[in-house]
Amino acid sequence: MSNFYLAQRLRRLRSSSAMRSLFQETSVGLNDLVLPIFVEEGVDDYKVIKAMPGVMRIPEKRLAYEIERIAKAGIRSVITFGISHHADATGSDTWNEEGLVARMLRICKNTVPEIIVMSDTCFCEYTSHGHCGVLCDHVVDNDATLINLCKQAVVAAAAGADFIAPSAAMDGQVVMIRKALDAAGFIQTSIMSYSTKFASSFYGPFREATGTSLKGDRKTYQINPMNRREAIRESLIDATEGADALMVKPAGPYLDVLREIRDNTKLPLAAYQVSGEYAMIKFAAQAGIIDELNVVLESLGSIKRAGADLIFSYFALNLAEQKVF
Ligand code: PBG
Repeated sequence: MSNFYLAQRLRRLRSSSAMRSLFQETSVGLNDLVLPIFVEEGVDDYKVIKAMPGVMRIPEKRLAYEIERIAKAGIRSVITFGISHHADATGSDTWNEEGLVARMLRICKNTVPEIIVMSDTCFCEYTSHGHCGVLCDHVVDNDATLINLCKQAVVAAAAGADFIAPSAAMDGQVVMIRKALDAAGFIQTSIMSYSTKFASSFYGPFREATGTSLKGDRKTYQINPMNRREAIRESLIDATEGADALMVKPAGPYLDVLREIRDNTKLPLAAYQVSGEYAMIKFAAQAGIIDELNVVLESLGSIKRAGADLIFSYFALNLAEQKVF
């Protein structure tokens, strides 16, 4: 058998499992993952979310039990989403010290003080119209919404949030929230900005998960998915406004954006693998078309490879429970 002379033989470093591990460039672990949780007030039972197989709404009265279970499984961080039964025109329950946002945070931090709790800071689950802020002539009023975001952020910080995670996509939300937190003495409360948030159809299943009543869309405040330069600009602006960490959302369809932001800032960068990305993998796996675990690991690995330091993912708990890492 004669061999050719080839200057490069990349198969050498792929020849065994040990060799492949030694030269693996990217890896995902539990320390990188943030688990989003849905908490419903005023109900006794868990609620299955049909659009997101494997994810349930947690009744508020079971939250202490669940957060303990989540922490025991090895999850280090969660982000809270409330399902409100007290929606109104402005989402005022979010800045009520006894409202759902504050209660969720207190329950989580009082039960497991060491878990990092991020508070999704928005209004769409708490407004009767489902928009992410105050409506004025059918348009979300940016600066009126900023005032309410600041009130919510201070209440969330007082309730124990480690991170305020503004996702309303209002201009100036990071600088305004930073000032409000500092003025109230919460200089140690961090801001995880949903800095590059697209007006994406991949959020579809989340609407069922949270029961938002939105008619129409969010295109006047979230970014046009076709705009890459603008998407980079959004994150760079939030960096100058004082964000502690940036985020790209959704993740999988926007890996180019993730990489470009990674190359243009030194801030920590997160990516949110959203409900639609989760659902596509789940339903394809249920249909027997793909291998769920391997596709999940490949999708998370790709998001890290593109530049994310941490990933928000609905798969996190299942991976932790299966002791995959
Ligand atoms: C807004 C918010 C949304 C998601 C996270 N925060 C919905 C939206 O912007 O329409 C979507 C998350 C997902 O789809 O998994 N509070």
